Amino acid sequence: MLKSFCKAAACVLALGASGLALAADPIIIKFSHVVAEQTPKGQGALMFKKLVEERLAGKVRVDVYPNSSLFGDGKEMEALLSGDVQLIAPSLAKFEQYTPKLQLFDLPFLFNDIAAVDRFQLSPEGQNLLKSMEGKNITGLAYWHNGMKQLSANKALREPADARGLKFRVQASAVLEEQFKAVRANPRKMSFAEVYQGLQTGVVNGAENPYSNIYSQKMHEVQKFITETDHGLLDYMLITNTKFWSGLPADVKTELDKIIVEVTAQVNKDAEKLNQDAKKNILTAKTTEIITLTPEQRGKWREAMKPVWAKFEAPIGADLIKAADAANQAQ
Ligand code: LMR
Repeated sequence: MLKSFCKAAACVLALGASGLALAADPIIIKFSHVVAEQTPKGQGALMFKKLVEERLAGKVRVDVYPNSSLFGDGKEMEALLSGDVQLIAPSLAKFEQYTPKLQLFDLPFLFNDIAAVDRFQLSPEGQNLLKSMEGKNITGLAYWHNGMKQLSANKALREPADARGLKFRVQASAVLEEQFKAVRANPRKMSFAEVYQGLQTGVVNGAENPYSNIYSQKMHEVQKFITETDHGLLDYMLITNTKFWSGLPADVKTELDKIIVEVTAQVNKDAEKLNQDAKKNILTAKTTEIITLTPEQRGKWREAMKPVWAKFEAPIGADLIKAADAANQAQ
């Protein structure tokens, strides 16, 4: 009896020990996103995984889920809040339910180039926006570039009038809806994973995205024309669940913060090249004509879309729009 009790006690002790081993299991960070791996965000997620697993081996494991394979648009933010994923990087267009301020980044023709975007994102105003959703348990860790959006369609778009009556897929953004209404086109909200099929079946006639997204989702195969408008920005905010992040052990958090700084620098350095490579691949595929606008033609798009700014001045804040616009002047 005593013997068998001792056996049982040993068993309990052994279980206790394995319980301890469990407690020391690595922290798992699930990083879910909606794009392909050969895009700026896809590459950033993989680099983050690599560096974390090198420097925090045994302490943290990162599982990356690309291409909406775990959660797609609409679900990924809820999943972050409920703790089902720990890192996501939605495009800045996808935050309007959480703060109207980030609608800033969707304003058409806001930034002249990526250098201006960098200046604004690194400014105090830009950095404050990373913290603007902490009351909602969302912490912004960094901005990641994809780049400037181009218009694609099954019709050659040279002037705003060419877009009239066409149906364009938009991300879940009221600003982007207004942008297409401004050229008398019909916007239709659709999640990223549905865009290819939407274009293929004619549910929509056109879309807007940087080259890396167009190419990696094969959208060029179902779009005869791309107009190089550079009319707006598609960038990301790398975000985490505030409670999760602040509950990490201090040494782990410090190392993760360092890694994010490194990954961010690399993503933002490489993004434009990935877009240019994707553009070359589209040209090689010969599926799609890429239209370059004259300055006059581009000016017409700007003039047609610019009234959208006034419509969103109140929710975004005039000062914020002014600060972003000022970043167009190199210091
Ligand atoms: C889109 O929905 O078009 C983009 O936000 C996808 C992405 O994450 O780049």
